Amino acid sequence: MALAEAAPAKVNLHLHVVGCRADGYHLLDSLAVFAGAADRLRYRPGGPLTLHLDGPEAGALSAEPDNLVLRAARLLAEAAGVAPQGRLWLTKVLPVASGIGGGSADAAAALRLLDRAWGLHWGTRRLAPLAAQLGADVPVCLDSRAARMGGVGGTLTDAPALPAAGLVLANPRVPLATPAVFRAREGGFSPEASLPAAWADAAAMARDLARCGNDLEAAAIRLCPAVAEVLAGLRGLEGCLLARMSGSGATCFALFADPRGAEMAAARLPATWWRWGGGFTEGASKPYSAP
Ligand code: C5P
Repeated sequence: MALAEAAPAKVNLHLHVVGCRADGYHLLDSLAVFAGAADRLRYRPGGPLTLHLDGPEAGALSAEPDNLVLRAARLLAEAAGVAPQGRLWLTKVLPVASGIGGGSADAAAALRLLDRAWGLHWGTRRLAPLAAQLGADVPVCLDSRAARMGGVGGTLTDAPALPAAGLVLANPRVPLATPAVFRAREGGFSPEASLPAAWADAAAMARDLARCGNDLEAAAIRLCPAVAEVLAGLRGLEGCLLARMSGSGATCFALFADPRGAEMAAARLPATWWRWGGGFTEGASKPYSAP
C-alpha cells in the first residue's frame, strides 16, 4: 500500500532577530504560516531504504545520504530501534535554498510518513525532539500549521487566528544559503512583535504586519539584488496588501484579500520567476498550549 504526505511551504510573515546564542544561532520571533504550494513525499514498503527524486525543482538536489529526507528516516529508525526500509519518492515543487523551508518541510513529512509506515504511531509531539535535531525550521513544519516561532525557531506557540487571505509567492531563481544571510545581517536586535489574538480580515492583518519586518531582508538584498526586484514586482500588483521576504530569502510573499485574487495576480508576474498564488493551508489544529 502506498502512503503519501504533503510538505507545504512555510512562509514567515514577520521575522525578528531578538538575540543571539553563545553558539552563534540567532533567537527569533516569527509568525509562520503554510501555503498550499507543497512538495509531495510517497512511500511503498519493501527493500532497504531508498529515495527517488522527481518534479520541476528536483534538479538542484541529490538523493545522497545527507539529503534531509534520508537523515530524518535514519534518525527515526535509530530512535525507534527499527531497520530503515521502504522506497520513498520526493516530488520537488518548492525551490531549494529559498526561505520557504522546503528541505525542512520534506524532513518533517518524512518523520510523519515513516511514523505511520513503520507502524510506530508516535505522533507529532513525540517526533518533535527528532525534528529539532534536523534543523531550526523542522519542528514548525511537523504540524504544518500557523505558529509563532520563538527560541532558535523550535519553541512554538499559537498564532493569531488567521483570516481567509490570499498569498502570492515569488522567487527570482537565485538560491540563498541561510548561514550567509545571517552572517551578512547588520544592526542590533528587534523587539518581539505585538500581535492580536485574531484578525477579522486580510486588510487588518496586513496593517498589523506592516509594523513588523523581516530583519534578514536587507542582508539578503545585498547578497542577491534580485530580491528587491521581486519585492517591487509584488508591490506593483493590483490588490497587494503587503509584500515582504520570507525566512532568509530569496522567496518573497504578498498578501491579498482572497486566494482567487492571489492566484490571478501570480500569473501576472514574470514567467522567469518561480511563482505561486493561492491561500493558506492548515495541518493539525490542536493548540500548542494544550497538555
Ligand atoms: O537549523 P538549520 O540547519 O536550518 O540552520 C541553518 C543555519 O542558519 C545555521 O547553521 C545558522 O547559521 C543559521 N541559523 C541561525 N539562527 C537560527 C536558525 C538558523 O543563525 N535561529
